[in-house]
This record gives sequence, structure tokens and C-alpha cells, in this order.
Amino acid sequence: MFAATPLTGNKPEQYSQLLEQARGLMSGERDRIANAANLAALLYHGLPDLNWAGFYFFDGTELVVGPFQGLPACVRIPMDRGVCGAAARERTTQRVDDVHAFPGHIACDAASRSEIVVPLVRGGALIGVLDIDSPLPSRFDADDQRGVEAIAAAFVEAMG
Ligand code: SME
Repeated sequence: MFAATPLTGNKPEQYSQLLEQARGLMSGERDRIANAANLAALLYHGLPDLNWAGFYFFDGTELVVGPFQGLPACVRIPMDRGVCGAAARERTTQRVDDVHAFPGHIACDAASRSEIVVPLVRGGALIGVLDIDSPLPSRFDADDQRGVEAIAAAFVEAMG
């Protein structure tokens, strides 16, 4: 059984504990659905002030929703749409303080105010994105970006 250990210390310290928990959950497991499901749950319950945390996978044409926690979401996101499309297309993390000001933002949950989307790239190939939403504006800072990017990298690494 997974025992949620409360995160302690400053934000970088908390992310390093979260990364260890993520590595523990994925240890010895390569299945991306299994690992994505557990990571979505870990992030959603481990980080404060979120309303959505999960994955979109690239099917060769567009992004298709994968395991997540939160309200039901848009199933398919074309590469030229939304924060997720931008992260996947540009292969750079998109940290958006105010989603209402982001051209083309897709509102799956009207409560979302800020968002961070990290591309998942393995051996030069786009796997998908890790998307986290918050009902608070400017919820994600540079520490969150580093922390979420490290967890996304661990996910890609676990795929082998
Ligand atoms: N807001 C995202 C869509 C996905 S949901 O937030 C779960 C976007 O603009 O790409």
C-alpha cells in the first residue's frame, strides 16, 4: 500500500521528496499507462491547489488524453491548439500565469486559472505532455517548473 508521506521543507526540498516517491512508484515498471496513472495521482494529491493533473499522449497526429486526476477533459488536442499543443510543438515547458491571456487556451475545466505543461521527449521522439492546472492565478513558479520537469524526466526514463 502506498503511504503518502507529507512533504516537508522548502519547495525544492518538497519536490525532491515528490521525485523520490515518483521514482519509487515507477521502480521496475516500464508501462507508460501504469506509470502515468500513478504519477497523476501522486501529483494531484501531493501538490496543493490543483484542479487537474495528467497526461496527453501523442498519437502521431495529435494529443490524446491519458491517465489524469480531475474533471473529465478534452479527449483530443490538435498540435496547433492550446497550451498543451504549444508545449508539444515547441518541445518547451509552457508556464502560464493567466490562462485567459494565453491565445488558444482550451478550457477543459472553467476553474483553471494557471497551468504548466511539460513536453515528454524520448530519444528525440515526442511522447506527449504532462499537464497540471490550478484554480489559482500564477500558481506555478520556477521552482515548480524545475520540480515538475524532473518528475517528467523520471517518467520518460522509466520507459526505458
Ligand atoms: N488547458 C489545456 C487543455 C487541457 S486541460 O487543461 C486538461 C490547453 O490549453 O492545452
